[in-house]
Amino acid sequence: MRKGTALGLVLMLLLGLSGCAGKQEPAAENASIVVGFSQIGSESNWRIANTVSMEQAAKEIGYSLMTDNANQKQEKQIDAIRSFIAYRVDVIVFSPIVETGWDNVLNEAKQAGVPVILMDRMIETRDDSLYTAYIGADFYAEGRRAGEYLVRKADALGAEHLRIAEIHGTTDSTPMRDRQRGFMDVIRDDPRFTVIDSVDGDFLRSKGEECMRELLAKYGADGIDVIFAHNDAMMLGALDVLDACDDPSVKKMVLITVDGEKDAVDALKAGRINCVVQCTPDLGPAVMKLVGDLKAGKELPKVNHPDEGAFSDFDDLTDPAVEGF
Ligand code: AHR
Repeated sequence: MRKGTALGLVLMLLLGLSGCAGKQEPAAENASIVVGFSQIGSESNWRIANTVSMEQAAKEIGYSLMTDNANQKQEKQIDAIRSFIAYRVDVIVFSPIVETGWDNVLNEAKQAGVPVILMDRMIETRDDSLYTAYIGADFYAEGRRAGEYLVRKADALGAEHLRIAEIHGTTDSTPMRDRQRGFMDVIRDDPRFTVIDSVDGDFLRSKGEECMRELLAKYGADGIDVIFAHNDAMMLGALDVLDACDDPSVKKMVLITVDGEKDAVDALKAGRINCVVQCTPDLGPAVMKLVGDLKAGKELPKVNHPDEGAFSDFDDLTDPAVEGF
C-alpha cells in the first residue's frame, strides 16, 4: 500500500470514529433517556419549526423523544401527560396551550417522581414545585419591544394621534397575556395612542384574515393607523386582506408583528410590514441540555430565556443578519 493511501485510510478511520464531518455520535447510553413531549399543535410556522427543533435536537443527542401533538386541545395535552407518566418517561417537556388548569395533572407527575420542564409557555400556579424549569421567550419583553418601536415610529412620523387595533393570540396563553401587557406598559400613558379594539386571532393565519376583514368593516381603512398582531401567521393573514383592499389608507398603516418567520421578514424588507419582533422557535438544543443536566443531577435555573431582538424599518435590512426562520 502506498504511504499516501495508508495515511488517507487512517484519517478516514479517525473521522469515522469521531462521527465524520466534526459531528459527534450520540453516546449509546443516551438512547435509554426517554423524553415525553406534549406539543400544542401546528397552528403556525413558528410551532412547526419548534417541533422540528425539538426532534432534531433529540436525535442529535440520541435521546428517545415521544411526541404528542394535541391539535390545540388542552384535554389532549392532559391525556398525553398522563400517558407519559404511565410510561414512566424520564422527563416530560410540554408547552401549555393556556396558563390555567394544570395543577391536577402536574401533581400526578410530581407524585410519580417524573420531572416536568415547561417549554415555550408558562403556567399559572401557586405551587412552583410542579415544574422543574421553564425555558422560552420573555414575552413581556417582546411586547415592550413592539411598544418601543411604535413610540419611535410615532416620533419619526410626528404623529399626534394613532388608533391601534390589536390582533391577539390565544386567549389566556402566556404570549397573549405578556405581549399585551408589555406593549400596554410602554404606550398606556402616552396620549398619542388609543387602542380602539383587541380581537382574538388565536395565532392562526385564517383567523388573522377574518379579524382584519371584521376590523375593516367596523372602522374602515382610514379608521385604523396601527395593527399590532401577536404573531406573524395572523399578520400575514391580515396582510392578505389589506393587499386586496383598494383603499389607499391601508398603505399608511403601521404594521407590527412578532416571531420572525421568513415570509414576515421578507414582507418587512419589501416595505409591507414595519416591525418584526423576534421570538425564536429553536428551543430544542437548550431543552435537551436541560434534560441532560437534570439527568446528571444538576440543579436547573428555574427560568431560561433565549436572546432575542427586533427588526424594523429603522434598521439596515440589507444586513445578512436580518433573516427569518
Ligand atoms: O408561544 C409562542 C407563540 O405560539 C408564537 O408566537 C406563535 O407563532 C405560536 O403559535
